[in-house]
Amino acid sequence: MAFTVAVIVLKGGAGKTMTSIALTEAAAESGAAATLVDADPMGGAVRQAALAEESGRPLRGTVLGLSTPDLPKRIGSITPGADIVVIDGPPPGALKIAKAAIESADAVIIPCPARPGDLDRVPATLELAEGAGVPAFGVFNFYKTGTNNAAAAEQLVVTYGVNMLDTRLIDSTKVSENYGLRPRSLVARYGRELLDELTRKAAG
Ligand SMILES: Nc1ncnc2c1ncn2[C@@H]1O[C@H](COP(=O)(O)OP(=O)(O)OP(=O)(O)O)[C@@H](O)[C@H]1O
Ligand SMILES: [Mg+2]
Repeated sequence: MAFTVAVIVLKGGAGKTMTSIALTEAAAESGAAATLVDADPMGGAVRQAALAEESGRPLRGTVLGLSTPDLPKRIGSITPGADIVVIDGPPPGALKIAKAAIESADAVIIPCPARPGDLDRVPATLELAEGAGVPAFGVFNFYKTGTNNAAAAEQLVVTYGVNMLDTRLIDSTKVSENYGLRPRSLVARYGRELLDELTRKAAG
């Protein structure tokens, strides 16, 4: 059976899709059969997979769209033979689908923008995972070392009781430049670190 990771936070623009693609590609690159299930009705990951294909360097993982509350029932049949399945969660508002994604998963990754005002939906996301009995791990994104925002964000996640991974991604235009491409440079590295840490802490 596939190990399934849901990348969820009830906040837009936190890095769910970027993290999902980075993780799926790291797994595929390591030789695993990796499938990304795009549970966002807007289909952002599916669109990026099409763009990567057009660029001549297609994503190595399989990407398919399925945004439905009956995801827990259907996910097995749409991902046959996968070793790892990564679910790219929906934007805020699609609560039923977010819950379905979490219930389909063995672990939840909560992308946490390292800016205090952008962490407001983290506790509600954590509650969903806890309610479903699925272990959740926070990962800082848009991290700016040495800033007040970073220090405040570090404190907030402690207050919220988030189990933070050591892996984190800095705020950089090098990240947004990977849009619609097979991950390179620091996004590729982020995916590998995340996969490695997750394998040690959640799948082991
Ligand atoms: N560390 C970063 N540095 C700079 N830009 C980033 C970083 N992480 C993500 N981005 C950019 O921020 C935007 C939002 O990221 P992404 O689409 O992954 O978020 P999302 O949580 O999936 O958003 P949505 O809720 O709309 O689905 C994208 O343009 C992405 O390239
Ligand atoms: Mg997205």
